[in-house]
Amino acid sequence: MTTNSTATRHIKLNNGVAMPALGLGVFLASPEQTADAVACAIAEGYRLIDTAVAYNNERQVGEGIRRSGIKRDEIFITTKLWVANYGHDSARRAFDASLRRLGLDYLDLYLLHWPVPTDFAATIASYQVAEKLLAEGRARAIGVSNFQPQHLENLIAQTDTVPAVNQVELNPYFTGRAVREANQRHGIVTQSWSPIGGTYLRNKNAVTSGADSPLTHPLITGLARKYGKTPAQVVIRWHLEHGFSAIPKSVRPERIAENFNVFDFTLAPEEIAAIDALDTGVRAGGNPETFDRNSYRITIDE
Ligand SMILES: NC(=O)c1ccc[n+]([C@@H]2O[C@H](COP(=O)([O-])OP(=O)(O)OC[C@H]3O[C@@H](n4cnc5c(N)ncnc54)[C@H](OP(=O)(O)O)[C@@H]3O)[C@@H](O)[C@H]2O)c1
Repeated sequence: MTTNSTATRHIKLNNGVAMPALGLGVFLASPEQTADAVACAIAEGYRLIDTAVAYNNERQVGEGIRRSGIKRDEIFITTKLWVANYGHDSARRAFDASLRRLGLDYLDLYLLHWPVPTDFAATIASYQVAEKLLAEGRARAIGVSNFQPQHLENLIAQTDTVPAVNQVELNPYFTGRAVREANQRHGIVTQSWSPIGGTYLRNKNAVTSGADSPLTHPLITGLARKYGKTPAQVVIRWHLEHGFSAIPKSVRPERIAENFNVFDFTLAPEEIAAIDALDTGVRAGGNPETFDRNSYRITIDE
């Protein structure tokens, strides 16, 4: 991996838009927890919030933003189109519904949540809707999530806008080298989901390392001691040193603050390489190669 020892607070997207490198994720933040978590994060200095239709908390993300008092143009909001809504007309309706729930009149980043390899035509049609939304100024940037190299190639061959971001499962146990390299080749920013390994807590069968989670791995806990930081801070710093964007999730105020307190130390190149070597090659989340519309059943509160 190439490293970025001058990890910055912003990453420039391929259309010139500046995206905060570090944000708050809200997957599995319940509607009751979400507004408080978002308002807390903004008070701590976060300026990027990552939600999705499928998380069923867009309304509460909007509430948290309004409660924070932050000006709209000082915060960067991402949401994602759910696969059940793929298709030309349904994608546009779903975008309008997301904006309505969030209480916003534009999005900073709009992502296709998963590739649907069994119906890639619908994936393309949905991305073409996103392209129109970009042209209309209703989204400042558009991109994809969970796309593997061949999905990127297919999409780029059939559409006019190279995605600005590909948000993928990425943490020290699953570093997704092929997809990172494909992103880099196309000038796409890699954004890490489950950056501190939360997905391994939900799917313990995927753990093939001696430690249950990157946060309890002796290499990470040793570096945490060395730098007087926490394991989560070491792992988040590793993402930033690589030039990835990361969106750790927490609903606990002390952890929300902890996860943002990563701009006062750096990791040495050999430490970054040692963390890279924790890769087990085993993902804990969904498999993008076989994902289809029935992979997850979700209920969306309109
Ligand atoms: N595009 C996709 O398909 C996709 C898939 C999954 C996730 N995501 C996005 O990525 C975000 C993050 O991923 P994730 O939620 O799966 O995993 P994660 O951020 O790696 O881990 C979250 C888990 O770690 C705990 N945690 C948070 N901070 C901690 C700390 N400092 N020390 C110890 N534990 C800590 C959280 O619990 P508490 O909340 O109790 O603190 C939660 O259980 C999501 O919220 C979502 O926005 C995207």
